[in-house]
Amino acid sequence: MDADFPELSPNVYRDTWCGQVLGDRVDKAVRVSGWVHRRRDHGGLIFIDLRDRTGVVQLVFNPDEAGGSFELGHRLRSEFVVSVVGRVLTREPETVNPDLPTGQFEIHVTGAEVLAESDTPPFAIEGFNAEVGEEARLRHRYLDLRREPMQRAIELRHRLTTSMRRFLDAEGFLEIETPILTRSTPEGARDFLVPSRQHRGSFYALPQSPQLFKQMLMVSGFERYFQVARCFRDEDLRADRQPDFTQLDIEMSFVDSEDIITLNERLMAHLLGEMGIDVQIPFPRMGYDEAIQRFGSDKPDTRYGFEITDLTEILRGTEFKAFGGVIESGGAVRGINFGRRELSRAQLDGLIDDAKELGAKGLVWAFREGDGWRAPIAKFLSAEELSGLNTAMDAEEGDLMLVAADQPAKVAAILGGLRTRLAERWGLIPEGENQLTWIVDWPMFEFNADEDRWDALHHPFTAPSGEFDPADPGSARAQAYDLVWNGVELGGGSIRINSPELQSQVFTALGISLEEAADRFGFLLEALRYGAPPHGGIAFGVDRFAALLAGVDSIRDVIAFPKTASGGDPLTGAPAPVDDVQMRDVGIALRKPAKPGSA
Ligand code: AMO
Repeated sequence: MDADFPELSPNVYRDTWCGQVLGDRVDKAVRVSGWVHRRRDHGGLIFIDLRDRTGVVQLVFNPDEAGGSFELGHRLRSEFVVSVVGRVLTREPETVNPDLPTGQFEIHVTGAEVLAESDTPPFAIEGFNAEVGEEARLRHRYLDLRREPMQRAIELRHRLTTSMRRFLDAEGFLEIETPILTRSTPEGARDFLVPSRQHRGSFYALPQSPQLFKQMLMVSGFERYFQVARCFRDEDLRADRQPDFTQLDIEMSFVDSEDIITLNERLMAHLLGEMGIDVQIPFPRMGYDEAIQRFGSDKPDTRYGFEITDLTEILRGTEFKAFGGVIESGGAVRGINFGRRELSRAQLDGLIDDAKELGAKGLVWAFREGDGWRAPIAKFLSAEELSGLNTAMDAEEGDLMLVAADQPAKVAAILGGLRTRLAERWGLIPEGENQLTWIVDWPMFEFNADEDRWDALHHPFTAPSGEFDPADPGSARAQAYDLVWNGVELGGGSIRINSPELQSQVFTALGISLEEAADRFGFLLEALRYGAPPHGGIAFGVDRFAALLAGVDSIRDVIAFPKTASGGDPLTGAPAPVDDVQMRDVGIALRKPAKPGSA
């Protein structure tokens, strides 16, 4: 049992936690309550494992001791809620259960009462079968949450947020709540909208983050703000994304990037230390461009190598059209040496499918053989090119090289994706290692070719580094930083713009007209006119943090009531239609679904 668990104040239901039935209780009378975890009928005796939040204890129903309650013991089924009184005894040596903290003891029941019966659960709580689908688990989440791993995950999450609050409180931060019903904040996703009954035709937006409010709190002079904040984003879901999720949101005044990075390194060392993970600070820092070059990702997993090598110069002018053509059109050829690997032809062809899934047109595989390559395309490359490629990729005899050609950003993303996918598949990721890295020196903007405009790589309130030339958004760098933990983006933030003029210039660079800026963010531009201190901050994904600590693959496993991958909640049935009266109240009528092909 958790050593910090508070002593019970005895009441009609119990005076002892199940997990507390240890040596000091032997020969004493105790009253415990909980759920029937397991029931075994051994002829004359009935054994029940009784469970509460603190653990499991064995009850023995013996007709000679239990008297009238023995019959009740017969009636008990899984997940019935019972309260029993009895005497604690030491088990016979051969019946000790070494897997249970209370395993040396048992309660010999003298009286029992059923407090609530239970239908047969749709899946077993004890001896849970991993085959149970997520839909079933979420449909009966209150039962799924009874399971030990879920109880531990929710406890861990609580300890994490409590530890965050304690650290930040001691550093002078105030936790301040910001509105849930608000106006749209542009963090790059779609908003969830809430129609207003009082203001027909107008909508609140749920906050994608408290970004603008925390900036205004700095204008208000609070200096150090934090919030364990719920955020809402209508975006495509993945294992590490939910439509509503939680951030540890932080903002500080009179600081530069260095101050924020330093404070957050101490915060991380504190949080991880409390969870039993020692990390060295300061954390290494890597420029954005270097991360893309070497790892093909702005959230590189630096626990293992298999870095990307640029091969463009070696292959410039090559006869091999698939590479030469790409290079001529401004593209790049890059490769990864995955070391000595034995793979069948089918497995090698499978790698090409992997690359195609990641958006590649193709993928070249090759093994070093002597000075050349064993590869289907080896005959199209000159001896000089082959030996140059081997040298560049540091290939030894038998090493597998994977090479792709495309526009630079795309080839980086393809090889970056392949690198993480294959490292996982081939078990190349060292266990038990923790790599925390800051990604710094970000571009301010990236060009969105589909929409023919510049988008902010972080958000539009991020301050540029040095002089900002609105005519040349492509070369602007941002005072932004992301913290990456073992290849997961744990958090990100920046120094903010604190001048209304510069903020307007950035809106213009993003293609947001002055009228639109005034309409959507006029309140922020106005606030910036009343003495906005230099300020900046960061936000961490609490769900991701807890998932990494718990060692689970999906953030759904550290959220009490998460949504499925398609954004639904099988428990409540949300999202659901509402009745006509509710629709009328808010002045909404549904449009007919758009015909396929129409705009
Ligand atoms: P950003 O958009 O990078 O920054 O979000 C910060 C962190 O929140 C987590 N996160 C998510 N977690 C689960 N589900 C989601 N859908 C989801 N989206 C984001 C990630 C991410 O790193 N206002 C800025 C912060 C700032 O500049 O201070 C912001 O929200 O771990």
